[in-house]
Amino acid sequence: MSESVYPLIDLRTAALPMPAATPAERLRTALLDTHARPLHDLRISVTDRCNFRCSYCMPKEVFDKNYAYLPHKDLLSFEEITRLAKNFVSLGVRKIRLTGGEPLLRKNIEVLIEQLASLSTPDGSPLDLTLTTNGSLLERKAQSLKDAGLQRVTVSLDGLDDAVFRRMNDVDFPVHDVLKGIERAQHVGLGPVKVNMVVKKGTNEQEIVPMARHFRHSGVRLRFIEYMDVGATNGWRMDEVLPSAEVLRLLQQQWSMVALEHSAVGETAQRWGYADAAGQHDTHAGEIGLISSVTQAFCGDCNRARLSTEGRMYLCLFAGQGYDLRHLLREQGMDDEQLQAQIDAIWRLRTDRYSQLRSQAPAGTGPARRVEMSYIGG
Ligand code: GTP
Ligand code: 5AD
Ligand code: SF4
Ligand code: SF4
Repeated sequence: MSESVYPLIDLRTAALPMPAATPAERLRTALLDTHARPLHDLRISVTDRCNFRCSYCMPKEVFDKNYAYLPHKDLLSFEEITRLAKNFVSLGVRKIRLTGGEPLLRKNIEVLIEQLASLSTPDGSPLDLTLTTNGSLLERKAQSLKDAGLQRVTVSLDGLDDAVFRRMNDVDFPVHDVLKGIERAQHVGLGPVKVNMVVKKGTNEQEIVPMARHFRHSGVRLRFIEYMDVGATNGWRMDEVLPSAEVLRLLQQQWSMVALEHSAVGETAQRWGYADAAGQHDTHAGEIGLISSVTQAFCGDCNRARLSTEGRMYLCLFAGQGYDLRHLLREQGMDDEQLQAQIDAIWRLRTDRYSQLRSQAPAGTGPARRVEMSYIGG
C-alpha cells in the first residue's frame, strides 16, 4: 500500500469553518454562488456502505473488513435529513437524489422517502425525488419505494456480459438480477428509469454497443459516464478514460443519432436520440446520454449541493472538506431560520469548479485530498 495512492488522513473528520450567516434582510434575495449558479439539486448520501466493490469507487484492497465505516450514531437520522432537506427546499432546491454507498442498504429507507415525499416547494409544486442504486435489491424493493413516494430511479450497470459485470462489481454479483430489478422498477412506474454505465477503457468498452442495443426501444435511458478521478483510492489514470466523443462514434457506426436539447439547466448529460428514416428523433427507439465530466466539464452551471451521510455539506464532488450541518442541528440547536441563513451563506461563497480547472491544468495537479464517492454520494 503506497501513501500516494491511499490517503493516511481521514478527511471525514475535518470540517470547514462556518461563514457568518446571511443577514435576514438578504435572505430572501436570489441565492446565487460566486459564479451566479443557483442551488437546485441536493444529493443526499444515506449510507457509506455498499455490497459491491467496483474498482473505480470502492476498491477491495481499501474497503476491506478493516475499513472504518461511520458508526451509526454519526449518521444523520431520518428526521435530521428531512429537517435539513426542508430548509434546502426553502432556499430553492427542487430535486433531491438519494445516494450512497448503496442507499437501499439503509434500513427502512422507505420511511425516509415518505418523509421527503411530503415536502413541497414554496409554490406548492412537488419535488423531483429520485435515487441512484446498484440495482441489487431493486427487484425486491421497487414496489415499496414507489408506494413510499419515490418518483424514479437511476441504476448503475457497467455491462451486459455476466463475466464482465461480475468482475467490475468485484463481488461476483450476476447481471441477471440487476436486469430484473430494472424491469421491476419500470413495471411499478419508477420511470423513466435511467441506467448509468461508467466506461473504463480496456475494461468494458466492448459493452457499449450491446448495452445500447439492449436498452434501445425499452424506455430506459442509458447514460455513458467518463471514468472520473473522484476520490483518492481508485488509482485513476487518464489513459483509462474513454472520451464520450469515442462512445458516440461507436454508436454512430451502428445507428443514426440526432443531438437533443438539454431538458434542464445544469443537466449532467448531453442527450442523443436514435433517428428514424427521415433523420428525426425516433422517440420509440429512445435516447442515450453522454456524461463527459472529464473531457467536457459541466461546472459552468453546476447547481448541485451534496449532503454526506454524517451531515456534512459539500459544494463539489471533488471537495476535500465539507461544512458540518449536523453540528448546527445537534450541538447548536438552530431553528429553521438560522439553518437557512447559514446554508445560504455557504452557498453564496461557493467558488468550486473542479473539473473545469482540471481540464485546464496539467494532469495530476489539483487538490490531492478528496473524499470518496461512496461517502459523499455520486
Ligand atoms: P438526472 O436528473 O436523473 O439526469 O440526474 P443526474 O444527471 O444528476 O444524474 P446522476 O445522478 O445519475 O449522475 C450521473 C453521474 O454523473 C454520476 O454518477 C457522476 O458520475 C456524474 N455526476 C453527477 N453529478 C456530477 C457533478 O456535479 N460533477 C461531476 N463531475 N460529475 C457528476
Ligand atoms: N467515475 C465515474 N462515475 C463514478 N461513479 C462512481 N465512481 C465513479 C467514477 N470514478 C458513479 C457510478 C454510479 C454512481 C453512484 O457514481 O456509476 O452511477
Ligand atoms: Fe457501490 Fe455504486 Fe460505488 Fe459500485 S459505484 S461500489 S455500486 S456505490
Ligand atoms: Fe459541480 Fe464540482 Fe462536478 Fe464541477 S466538478 S460539475 S463544480 S460537482
